[in-house]
Amino acid sequence: MEHLSPTPSAPSASSPAVYGGPAASVRSNVLEVSNLRKEYTTGRGKLVLFDGLSFTVATGEMLAIVGESGAGKSTLLHLLGALDTPSAGDVYCASIHLKSLSTRDAAAFRNREVGYVWQFHYLLPEFTAAENVAMPLLARGEGHKQAIQKAKDWLNEVELADRATHRAGELSGGEQQRVSLARALVTEPKVLLADEPTGDLDSRTAGVVFELIERLHKSHSLTSVIVTHNMTLAAGCDRVLRLQKGRMEEIEEFVSPVV
Ligand SMILES: Nc1ncnc2c1ncn2[C@@H]1O[C@H](COP(=O)(O)OP(=O)(O)OP(=O)(O)O)[C@@H](O)[C@H]1O
Ligand SMILES: [Mg+2]
Repeated sequence: MEHLSPTPSAPSASSPAVYGGPAASVRSNVLEVSNLRKEYTTGRGKLVLFDGLSFTVATGEMLAIVGESGAGKSTLLHLLGALDTPSAGDVYCASIHLKSLSTRDAAAFRNREVGYVWQFHYLLPEFTAAENVAMPLLARGEGHKQAIQKAKDWLNEVELADRATHRAGELSGGEQQRVSLARALVTEPKVLLADEPTGDLDSRTAGVVFELIERLHKSHSLTSVIVTHNMTLAAGCDRVLRLQKGRMEEIEEFVSPVV
């Protein structure tokens, strides 16, 4: 992705981070959100989800974002991963100014820099687990044999080596989510964005998947942002931010975790 170069300068939400040159290796924040605004124009007028939202996520940090349904958590995650564009403000991810990306570069960014996990796995049920995991590699032109081998290695990482040739549609919910985690990480992104990754699982399986995310976050030196309604799981993250009424506040303590 030669044409995806760091921007020469950028505002910083909380620290005087410097962009440009070899900055990606020396900057402390993988994600910087500055004065972000997102509004939707609906039949009933303008819906402003947030305005002036600023925060950073440090390299290697595992951040949880919580908040009521409709607060804008998914929308925010989409903006962090260049799946949507802000109405105003800036997002820098891995030193890249997302708003400046062309459509083609944004697609390259999504394929290489970020891994996504959703509440629903969105696997292709008729394809095998290995084929599903290999998809992002095939999409960027890697050879089939090599892509399948990397996919199998990743299935091993999520402890599903013995399911590589099983159809995704025949796996359990927890297994499907582990496959989608392998698919998110097979491209070796710097950032993992997860939107309620355990929201569709029973509490025991949710715990297993969350532990796996934690382990992979550490072993692959990821920077992770995890949206969750599960305060117990959120408490397992390095930091918890709550999105509420368009503002982001840090939660210092959990009084009574609700699963
Ligand atoms: N494309 C759109 N057009 C208009 N309104 C939208 C659009 N997408 C989302 N919204 C509205 O924005 C608000 C925030 O949606 P979002 O999905 O980000 O919430 P959320 O915090 O992820 O909620 P949940 O916890 O239920 O997943 C909602 O009120 C939703 O109806
Ligand atoms: Mg959501």
